[in-house]
Amino acid sequence: MKPTKLGSSVSFIASALAIDDLARCRGAEVITRDIAIIGGGAAGTYAAINLKDRGKSVIVVERRGSLGGHTSTYHDPTTGTPINYGVQLHHEDSTTRDFYARLNVTAGPGSFPEVKTPLYIDFTDGSPILNYSIPQPSENYFQALHKYPYLENGIELPDPVPEELLLTWPEYMERFNLTNDAIATYSRPATPGDLTKYLALYVFNYLNTVLLEEQVEGKIIVNANGDLSELYRNALAELDSDVLLNSVVVSGQRGRKPTDGVKLCVSTPKGKKWIVAKQLVFSAPAVLKNLEPFSLDEREVNIISEFEGGFYYTGIVTDFGLPTNYSYTNRGQNTEYHIASVPGVVMFNPTNVEGTYYYWYNSFSDMTREQVETDTRNTIKLLQRTVTGADVSAEPKFPAFKSHTPLHPITSADAIRRGIYREVYSLQGYRNTWYTGSLLVPGSSQLWNNTNQLLPRIIAASEQ
Ligand SMILES: Cc1cc2nc3c(=O)[nH]c(=O)nc-3n(C[C@H](O)[C@H](O)[C@H](O)COP(=O)(O)OP(=O)(O)OC[C@H]3O[C@@H](n4cnc5c(N)ncnc54)[C@H](O)[C@@H]3O)c2cc1C
Ligand SMILES: *[C@@H]1O[C@H](CO)[C@@H](O)[C@H](O)[C@H]1NC(C)=O
Ligand SMILES: *[C@@H]1O[C@H](CO)[C@@H](O)[C@H](O)[C@H]1NC(C)=O
Ligand SMILES: *[C@@H]1O[C@H](CO)[C@@H](O)[C@H](O)[C@H]1NC(C)=O
Ligand SMILES: *[C@@H]1O[C@H](CO)[C@@H](O)[C@H](O)[C@H]1NC(C)=O
Ligand SMILES: *[C@@H]1O[C@H](CO)[C@@H](O)[C@H](O)[C@H]1NC(C)=O
Repeated sequence: MKPTKLGSSVSFIASALAIDDLARCRGAEVITRDIAIIGGGAAGTYAAINLKDRGKSVIVVERRGSLGGHTSTYHDPTTGTPINYGVQLHHEDSTTRDFYARLNVTAGPGSFPEVKTPLYIDFTDGSPILNYSIPQPSENYFQALHKYPYLENGIELPDPVPEELLLTWPEYMERFNLTNDAIATYSRPATPGDLTKYLALYVFNYLNTVLLEEQVEGKIIVNANGDLSELYRNALAELDSDVLLNSVVVSGQRGRKPTDGVKLCVSTPKGKKWIVAKQLVFSAPAVLKNLEPFSLDEREVNIISEFEGGFYYTGIVTDFGLPTNYSYTNRGQNTEYHIASVPGVVMFNPTNVEGTYYYWYNSFSDMTREQVETDTRNTIKLLQRTVTGADVSAEPKFPAFKSHTPLHPITSADAIRRGIYREVYSLQGYRNTWYTGSLLVPGSSQLWNNTNQLLPRIIAASEQ
């Protein structure tokens, strides 16, 4: 049963459910730890390594078969060449360098993917967008951004929230004479859904100083060997039995006092496990679907249910059939500022393996791997017919795929106006639960830094 927002019966239903489920976990092996961490992506893995280094015992519960979350690396079967098709790069700062060093990863210089020779094409009909290029944001954009320093490393809004931040981005650009920056600001990477519907607040929070330092100044590092997943494989080797892969929490209890701790029934490939921990770090996307098993109370349901993530998919394509010296980026021939149509492929980028591309796919609703690959194949066949020098007989193959859904949960102008982000911050530590995933900042390096700032509080709570 799904908790609803309809009042006080919620926590009763949730706890009644939990007791049922706990009974089902009876007899399971007991795992006792200081901290339980849900989700082993960028934020969760960082928390696990650093909590252990500070003398805390941890257990990570990860739904997938590997750590790394949005970081996905495909290895070309003939050459072994690593191809990152999710996360591409990290911000060059001390947090990133320290984490690389801790996991024996050698840092090297990286570049923003958009530097490849781009062709802009309307993927709905194959027509090229003429005379189109993507400029960097202008000084005007930077000036606007600097008005909102509280969006740079989180969403710590003043009260009342400035109404201008709740305008949609087109409205904001119009009002503040920023329309010359439309193409630059609409071209931000890995942004799901309809770009024209985003609130100005989210544009500034995402296209922030850290991202612009990467994009404009090249303040970027990557794994020198090109394999961004090595970080997470090394972390897995280090954490070893402190990670439960292919595992999900079926039900959970979280006490109101620190000493009440956290109890979780977890379904794993080796049967049910019963986790007894002092504190819970929640680093998976903070949406109702992921938090339902944790017996949310009314306050938590009221906050979490306001957030929704976007629909985003990535994958690898071989036997692509198009000239391999270009990237192919989707833009609309007749849309406002040539914004790409959705649902659809965002772009195909070349890799170090000739003829192998990675692609990103944006949607308004959840899609299966088969649906995404069918549409992507249709797009490639269309481009093969319209791009000069293509091989129309090439049959694309799709050896790797990742769903990034629900990506970067966001909420409505109304909820923000009512102060939901203050409530999100006030949830930290409530019922022994801490939120570290990408709810307040988007990039890995900032997530690591913010997680680092939160660790002393989590540790203190675990020692009460
Ligand atoms: C295509 C793409 C490219 C990106 N490129 C970059 C980039 O180059 N640089 C950058 O800094 N940022 C990039 N980002 C942003 C990215 O969101 C962050 O860098 C970062 O990976 C987010 O980390 P996270 O820990 O919040 O989420 P995730 O990495 O998604 O981690 C969440 C983890 O929780 C797991 N999980 C989900 N639900 C459950 C559940 N119910 N129970 C247990 N586990 C669960 C997931 O499997 C996942 O492993 C990119 C994002 C996307 C989608
Ligand atoms: C890093 O390398 C050292 C020395 O080879 C090794 O002892 C350690 O286990 C490695 N750690 C990780 C996380 O790979
Ligand atoms: C593109 O630019 C060229 C050269 O500046 C110009 O001749 C042409 O008319 C432009 N085409 C479009 C569609 O704007
Ligand atoms: C709007 O911005 C442009 C530069 O992008 C500038 O040339 C113009 O003078 C500005 N207009 C107003 C009314 O400020
Ligand atoms: C890309 O390759 C095609 C032939 O496949 C060639 O005509 C074109 O000039 C090349 N473009 C660049 C930018 O190298
Ligand atoms: C980490 O976050 C803190 C607090 O917001 C900030 O002062 C610091 O500059 C950040 N450090 C890095 C390396 O980004």
